[in-house]
Amino acid sequence: MNRICNLFGIQYPIIAGGMVWCSGWRLASAVSNAGGLGLIGSGSMHPETLREHIRKCKAATDKPFGVNIPLMYPEIDSIINIVIEEGVKIVFTSAGNPKTWTSRLHDNGIKVAHVIASSRFALKCEEAGVDAIVAEGFEAGGHNGKEETTTMCLIPAVHKVTDKPLLAAGGISSGQGLLAAIALGADGVQMGTRFALTVESSASEEFKKLCIGLNEGDTQLTLKQVSPTRMIKNELYQRIVEAELNGAKVDELREILGKGRAKKGIFEGDLKDGELEIGQVASSIREIQTAGEAVEQIMKEYYSVRERLKL
Ligand SMILES: Cc1cc2nc3c(=O)[nH]c(=O)nc-3n(C[C@H](O)[C@H](O)[C@H](O)COP(=O)(O)O)c2cc1C
Repeated sequence: MNRICNLFGIQYPIIAGGMVWCSGWRLASAVSNAGGLGLIGSGSMHPETLREHIRKCKAATDKPFGVNIPLMYPEIDSIINIVIEEGVKIVFTSAGNPKTWTSRLHDNGIKVAHVIASSRFALKCEEAGVDAIVAEGFEAGGHNGKEETTTMCLIPAVHKVTDKPLLAAGGISSGQGLLAAIALGADGVQMGTRFALTVESSASEEFKKLCIGLNEGDTQLTLKQVSPTRMIKNELYQRIVEAELNGAKVDELREILGKGRAKKGIFEGDLKDGELEIGQVASSIREIQTAGEAVEQIMKEYYSVRERLKL
């Protein structure tokens, strides 16, 4: 037990991050049932879809679970209302200012963690009074900090400026990674890529299969001018890079990207034209396990490496 486990009432300090088109009730409840904390990713859901996922998650687990809310979401008011109405107890906010919603969530008895990519933003989290901080290095899949700070550099830097319970994210998929994160000053980890590639993830089979065959260097942080995103180097990526090399402005890049690309790639399995968000650590994942098997394996590795190092 450590303070992350105490804060959220979970067995292991492993959070499955909210992930568009991957983390619905199935994945969230599977991770929670295995002793970690599962998050429903509201970023790809209409408000009423989110309500349905919360209800199904409650029916599928009696363990704590949470909801991830990217704060730039257009229907943010409805999302916040639904989370409160449905009695959700844990919210992880991201992509925005933690000050805006933390006190409203706290007033309704909800614990709040906020995701950041620099120690500068850790101070904003302090001011907002969040209960925990997720510090995410640029190895991570999905949207990311454009400063390219790695997890190895970020965690000690954030740990230095805040005493808040701290979760490390980005490039962590194993028990060894969990132990390393704790050594750097974190209290636990948030993993995305590892759980995006499990049986219960709602990503398409095509996407999962492609990801478990990736090698080092097959993903890249791109779209820095629009919204920095780590994605697989597919045809869409090549079109974006070419346009950038030709001096494309933000509007042009937005036009190339269009709408619904992440759904197309991750959920519908369009591997050429879809935006295929996944982290660097995909290159170390070679099989599609259940979320329960993943949590069990991570904890086994954690205890065995701790024993080997005589910690
Ligand atoms: C496919 C995918 C979608 C993601 N979508 C979101 C999201 O909607 N909201 C969010 O806060 N983070 C999102 N993330 C980031 C994860 O929650 C997590 O912090 C990150 O994946 C951790 O790094 P890792 O991929 O190296 O494990 C996403 C990550 C992936 C791989």
